[in-house]
Amino acid sequence: MSKVKISLHNVCKAFGPKVVLDDCNLDIYEGESLVILGASGSGKSVMLKCILGLITPEQGSILVDGLESVHANGSTRVQIIRKIGMLFQGAALFDSMNVADNIVFGLKRDKTTLMQLVYDKLAQVGLTKDVANLFPSDLSGGMQKRVGLARAIASRPEILFFDEPTTGLDPIMSDVINKLIVSCVKNIGATALTITHDIASARKIADRIAMLYQGKIIWIGTVKELDKTDNPYVRQFIQGSSEGPIKLPTIEES
Ligand SMILES: Nc1ncnc2c1ncn2[C@@H]1O[C@H](COP(=O)(O)OP(=O)(O)OP(=O)(O)O)[C@@H](O)[C@H]1O
Ligand SMILES: [Mg+2]
Repeated sequence: MSKVKISLHNVCKAFGPKVVLDDCNLDIYEGESLVILGASGSGKSVMLKCILGLITPEQGSILVDGLESVHANGSTRVQIIRKIGMLFQGAALFDSMNVADNIVFGLKRDKTTLMQLVYDKLAQVGLTKDVANLFPSDLSGGMQKRVGLARAIASRPEILFFDEPTTGLDPIMSDVINKLIVSCVKNIGATALTITHDIASARKIADRIAMLYQGKIIWIGTVKELDKTDNPYVRQFIQGSSEGPIKLPTIEES
């Protein structure tokens, strides 16, 4: 069994009266591709942001390669951030920078090496060289997402977080991105944590799949186990049914 790369232990996060993570526990192993499933608003993005240190949980511990991320600052925070490449749900590109500068943001190499890196990464996400000089506002939503992905992988980080990598992409481009995620994990040995609503994509990229419900990981297993599970929450989610134990929040709750 490989070592635990990221570990969440009893993590609690609420916004006012709204409890989002409730004693959440999860171990992610080095070199695995883990997919998190969960309804909209269940706290998936909040979980990633807690690991990154962008949101501070009220309770619990989050270890990244043995470094405590909760309340980390200074050099520990920098050490953690350097390990992680992140694709945010909305791509989150810098509007005032062109595509090339977005992709290599924060990387220090000579100009020729950086431009070669930009072209390599653009090609990996299915974009042509001429996109490098465009600005985020010149791109379609799917292109912005792919540039966000190119930025996430540019520094070849040990850990990759992908928040909805295939949302808004056509099926063919989704497959390109799924293969890219798999190759990052298999060829570079990265540990990947992906959030997706796209079950077909989850099946292609995951070593293990976890389901977040009411602030906790209520189920975790392999793709094979997913198909065999009789867990009613997981079954309802993968069947995409509005009938079952998962209830939509009422107007008073939301
Ligand atoms: N900074 C914040 N302040 C207040 N509430 C927040 C904040 N960030 C997230 N929330 C709330 O936390 C809950 C979980 O949000 P989160 O973005 O993690 O959902 P999600 O599972 O990623 O959903 P989706 O699949 O729609 O992206 C939501 O109710 C959201 O409104
Ligand atoms: Mg989200």
